[in-house]
Amino acid sequence: MTGRVDGKMSFVTGAAQGLGEAIAYMLAKEGSKVVLADINEEKLTGVEDRINSDFPGKAHSVKLDVTSEDQWKDTLNEAEKLMGGINILVNNAGIGGGSTVEETDYEIFKQVMAVDTDSVFLGCKYAIPIMKNYSPGSIINTSSISGLIAGHNMAAYNTAKAGVWMLTKSVALHCARSAYNIRCNSIHPTFIDTPILDAMVERSNSEKEQVMMKLARQVPLGKVGEPDDVAYTVLFLASDESKFITGAEIKIDGGISAM
Ligand code: NAI
Repeated sequence: MTGRVDGKMSFVTGAAQGLGEAIAYMLAKEGSKVVLADINEEKLTGVEDRINSDFPGKAHSVKLDVTSEDQWKDTLNEAEKLMGGINILVNNAGIGGGSTVEETDYEIFKQVMAVDTDSVFLGCKYAIPIMKNYSPGSIINTSSISGLIAGHNMAAYNTAKAGVWMLTKSVALHCARSAYNIRCNSIHPTFIDTPILDAMVERSNSEKEQVMMKLARQVPLGKVGEPDDVAYTVLFLASDESKFITGAEIKIDGGISAM
């Protein structure tokens, strides 16, 4: 531990597993208090216990459905009380969606937009009025490489993640213009080995190892990413080391977008 976010107060959504869990653990390890938010209470408690057993008193968990405007308001107020403020927001919760425009039911499209994009809007809208009282602040929004590069069978996900990319820039400019001392950046991972890939494995009717190898072949670095590849990027953006970076997109894609 080197204390890169010592004294910070972080709110991380989708923290019950996968990237959110890795991000929350990393922020706590580097000195931040962390409020873990997720719709899955059971898994969330497990993550809270794990972090607190390694870094006592650093983590609290709150149940949040990121599509609910009321729950956002309540949980952010609760987090402010629990930690004594909020100055880092990681909008990480998200769901996948792999089908073409013709195959995608409108209900599914709206659900992907609600969980992946509306959630980021709500998080920024209601966290900024709190965060500006505890600046310097940093918002990290999880888009995807799919927010920058389209696929024929990613209609809803491409749309949702592209929305997160541009919303991030609008938020960054608003905060800069308002002199809030809050930065806002988006991150764009490619395939990272988390439970979100399980759906892809299921659809493929193949063993997980085979699917991972197939995905790895699409990445110039020749492998699928690890959750800590994303967590280290978030750590940098959350810390004051990145104090002149706002409105930027950081690709964590093993070189895919360079091709
Ligand atoms: P995951 O499926 O392992 O975890 C997502 C978490 O979000 C879960 O804990 C789930 O309970 C939570 N969640 C889902 N709906 C929610 C809701 N309505 N309210 C609150 N929490 C909710 O996924 P993973 O891989 O950790 O993904 C995290 C983020 O990273 C997502 O936004 C995803 O789109 C993005 N991403 C992931 C990539 C990957 O390959 N793993 C690649 C690019 C982006």
